[in-house]
Amino acid sequence: MAPKIVVVGSANADLVVAVQRRPGAGETVLGADTVVVPGGKGANTAVAAARLGAPVALLGALGDDQYGTLLRDSLAAAGVATELVRTSARPTGIAYITVTPDGENSIVVSPGANAEVSADDVVAAAGTLRAARVLACSLEVPVPAVEQAVAVAVSAGVRPVLNLSPVARLRQETLASLDPLVVNQHEAAWLLGTAEDAVPGVELASALLGLGPRSVVVTLGAAGAALAERGDVVEVPAPEVRAVDTTGAGDAFTGALAARLAGGEKLAAAVHFAVRVASLSVTRAGAQPSYPAAEDVLLA
Ligand code: RIB
Ligand code: NA
Repeated sequence: MAPKIVVVGSANADLVVAVQRRPGAGETVLGADTVVVPGGKGANTAVAAARLGAPVALLGALGDDQYGTLLRDSLAAAGVATELVRTSARPTGIAYITVTPDGENSIVVSPGANAEVSADDVVAAAGTLRAARVLACSLEVPVPAVEQAVAVAVSAGVRPVLNLSPVARLRQETLASLDPLVVNQHEAAWLLGTAEDAVPGVELASALLGLGPRSVVVTLGAAGAALAERGDVVEVPAPEVRAVDTTGAGDAFTGALAARLAGGEKLAAAVHFAVRVASLSVTRAGAQPSYPAAEDVLLA
């Protein structure tokens, strides 16, 4: 099936270690056994959308190594098309992740092959992108590739969804076309130059709308999400869950959002659904292995 969603983004092997607490500078702590799981913001988003039944293609790059195989297997198992995933001479990206008992994580990413995803790759894939309904991007790949993808999408009437994670400066033209811009509170504060936690979610969302995007979603962790569109700002609460591992919850959110928007749903309804998907994902360990299928969301 021709992909309705094209994801432009990273694919990483996540090397995850559970720790009682994060080490400070110059400190050593002991953790649990290392667990290796498929991750990366782009691959996560693609897998989340595919699990929910959407036809998805990932545009990205992997190394010719065991982690590249791990990612290709996970993408294939979820039904993500990988024709646009290039094999690079650089190693597969690796994310070094510590998870604390509260389910929170800290991540260092070594981009490897992801750093090679280029605007030329996007141009070469323009035909597939133009035929899609939604483009979903994140920023563990170089900004020029993402800006090119948004430009191609906009020129073809494809809806550009962008998760500004990790944060990066975008051209105003790119920012203004996003529908929605998806950020967490930290990213929102960075964009607005305000202190984190100082401003409620709905206010963050409307302030960000002032920067130009067509719509904005601020994800609020356990509190759900805030959504701003012209003349409309709403808060969408999340179901109460016990968080085991929040790694990749934002990617689950973006993937679910893309899946619903590609199916023709309105943004507010798609955000409601995506909040539930992200909440389910934090109740299980790992990024991709924790993403629910459509039936799981109905039953939850
Ligand atoms: O957003 C979560 C992801 O960030 C992890 O899977 C890790 O690979 C890093 O890219
Ligand atoms: Na999870």
